[in-house]
Amino acid sequence: MEEILKKIKEENLKVPKHVAIIMDGNGRWAKKRNMPRKYGHVQGSKTVEQIIEDGYNMGIEYITVYAFSTENWKRSEDEVGALMKLLQNYLIDCIERSTKNNMCVRVIGDKTGLADSIVKKINELEEITKNATGLKFTIAINYGGRDEIRRAVTKIAHEVAEKRLLPDDITEDLVNDYLDTAGLPDPDLLIRTSGEMRLSNYLPWQLAYTEFYFTDVLWPDFTKEDLLSAIRYYNGRERRFGGV
Ligand code: IPE
Ligand code: IPE
Ligand code: MG
Repeated sequence: MEEILKKIKEENLKVPKHVAIIMDGNGRWAKKRNMPRKYGHVQGSKTVEQIIEDGYNMGIEYITVYAFSTENWKRSEDEVGALMKLLQNYLIDCIERSTKNNMCVRVIGDKTGLADSIVKKINELEEITKNATGLKFTIAINYGGRDEIRRAVTKIAHEVAEKRLLPDDITEDLVNDYLDTAGLPDPDLLIRTSGEMRLSNYLPWQLAYTEFYFTDVLWPDFTKEDLLSAIRYYNGRERRFGGV
C-alpha cells in the first residue's frame, strides 16, 4: 500500500470521491480453472473485501458495488442459491467487523424480492453502521436501474395522488431523493471488469456524467494495482459536464 500511496502522491493523482464497480467475470475465472461458477463467486467476494479496504486507504470515500442484478435470477437455482448464501455470510461478517472497520454500509435494490433472513441481516447491518464515519460502502442486491426508477416513479405518483406533491414539484433533485441512492453523490468513476462494455442495468440515472473504465481483468484477479490503473485513466479524462 505504501508503494501505491507514494505513486498517487508523486504523480499528483486526483482520487475519485465515488467509485462504482461492476464486479464481472467470476464465472469465467472459475471456468478457466475447471471449477464450478460458484467457486468464482467465493473468490470474488474475497476480492471485494480487499478492494474496499485498499480503495479507502487510497482516499476513495464512496464505493458502490453490483452484487446481484434483478436479471441474475435467470441463472440456475444452484448458482442463485450459492450467491444468496454468500451474500448472507458476507452481511454477517460485515456486522461482526463493523465496529472495527468503521464502515457505513447500505444496500440498494428491491428488498421485497429477497428472503426474510437476508432482509433481516441487511436491516441490522444498516442500523449498526449508520453513524460510522469511514468508507461509505453501498451494495446493490436485487438491483436493476430501470426497476429503481420505476419504484421511485410509483412512490412519487402516490405523493401526487394524495396531494402531498404537485406535478411541477418534480425536479431532478426530487427524483434523486426517491431513488435508492438518495443522499449519495453521483459516481465519478465506473469500473467494469472482464472485458464487457455495457451497463447491464447498473445505475443508469446516477452514471449520466460518470467516466467509464473497462478492463479485461476478471473480478477475482482485480488488485489495488488495477484500481490504481483505473485512477490514472480517470485523471487523463477531462470532465466537461456539458461545458467547454
Ligand atoms: C459477476 O460474475 C458476478 C455476478 C453477476 C453475481 P459473473 O457470474 O457474471 O461471471 P461471468 O460474467 O459469467 O464470467
Ligand atoms: C452484471 O453482470 C451484474 C453483476 C455484476 C452483479 P452480468 O454478468 O449479470 O451482466 P451481463 O449478463 O453480462 O450483462
Ligand atoms: Mg457476468
